[in-house]
Amino acid sequence: MSTVDIEGWNFATRQVHAGTEHHAGHRPRATPIYLSAGFVFDDFAQASGRFDGSEDGHAYTRVSNPTHAALERRIAALEGGAGALFVGSGQAATSTALLALAASGDHIVASSSLYEGSREFLRETLARFGIAVTFVADNADAAQWRRAITPRTRALFAESIPNPKNDLLDIAAVAQVAHDAHIPLVVDNTLASPYLLRPIEHGADIVVHSASKFLSGHGTVLGGVVVDAGRFDWAADDRFPQFSLERGPDGRTRIERAGELAYLDFARTLAMRFGPAASPLNSFLVLQGIETLSLRVQRQSDSALAVARWLERQPEVAAVDYSGLDSSPSRDLARTYLPRGQGSVFGVTLRGGLAAARAFIDAVTLFTRMSHLGDVRSLVLHPGSTTHVGRTEEERVASGIDPGLVRLSIGVEDPDDLIRDLAQALVAARAATSDAATPAAPETAAAASARVVEAGAR
Ligand SMILES: Cc1ncc(COP(=O)(O)O)c(C=O)c1O
Repeated sequence: MSTVDIEGWNFATRQVHAGTEHHAGHRPRATPIYLSAGFVFDDFAQASGRFDGSEDGHAYTRVSNPTHAALERRIAALEGGAGALFVGSGQAATSTALLALAASGDHIVASSSLYEGSREFLRETLARFGIAVTFVADNADAAQWRRAITPRTRALFAESIPNPKNDLLDIAAVAQVAHDAHIPLVVDNTLASPYLLRPIEHGADIVVHSASKFLSGHGTVLGGVVVDAGRFDWAADDRFPQFSLERGPDGRTRIERAGELAYLDFARTLAMRFGPAASPLNSFLVLQGIETLSLRVQRQSDSALAVARWLERQPEVAAVDYSGLDSSPSRDLARTYLPRGQGSVFGVTLRGGLAAARAFIDAVTLFTRMSHLGDVRSLVLHPGSTTHVGRTEEERVASGIDPGLVRLSIGVEDPDDLIRDLAQALVAARAATSDAATPAAPETAAAASARVVEAGAR
């Protein structure tokens, strides 16, 4: 069995070939799905060697599996990391990544512009384990990050393209703050995908993904990945004793055992103990999805820009949070970090508030109403009444989750068809608002249908 050499290959080639193992025997071209709970030991010595780490190979799928391993190599190659760990969901990746760094009594500094599930994990769940979190109000302000750091801070955490507000992270600036304090920067790169942005190239130390989104791409599977850049100096001081001081049953520290992959080795042990393992069927589906990643994401980004530009011109729309628009406060950061495209998930705030959002969401016919993103199909969600329902009105407003905000995830359909669907949904939104509050004269049926036709002929 041999692993293909990816040195010198560009992204589109890597996404198809990196991580592949060429097997002797039947010589399958696709990576086989090793749907097996465990793996046979030849003898007593091999069993013991697989457990104490003195012998390479797989023992049990909760720890490692050949299909997962192929995916881990591929994602590490695409993100520019030294290694990766595949787990059962994006949430499992975030929790594993952070719990490998912080323990009871420690502290994490996080952006406040985050996927709400991650915010809840940081705010509610980590608090139960004695890990405090300070949320930085303005992502882009490096001074706020610096001020929030305490002697107990063990990680800085943010999303490269925050869901759903698209207020981009200045990765290099925040990485500098982190490194000045000798703390790693962990970046959730789900909405960008490694095709649009590779945070490790800008200074991030650890990257996490929900592989359920763009990496798999087809809305069929859950998965999560932790990628280790492999270059943080864990032994520089005594802040990270789990890597540099504590010794395992074999008498070695993580650094002695795994070298540059000490963090990942510890994270794998943590995942093995907590148990968020994925099925090998899932890693197969993510591997297959990644083979078309650049094609899908380029198309989705191009369409998202066209849709965002069109939406911004519509009278029912108060704001479009898309960093590809000149109106975006993140436009300059997008030029630096997202030159290929600015992603395909963004918020749109309707002037008519909740009534308009409700009518809009009920009126779409091509967009799917769904709590998901990064799918080949276009999706729509009202965060205020779904993902953010557990927050108070003041908290939602502080995070920019206006009652009229809807989140779109643009798929690979024809953008003209998407705009046609959105045009008729805006007509419904306007009618609902006019009925409720009568702020403006309702659009006549003739004018509305002319706009829908115009959208279709764009
Ligand atoms: C940015 C981001 N990170 C993480 C997650 C969690 O991923 P999963 O649903 O795979 O647990 C999501 C889910 O929407 C997300 O949008």
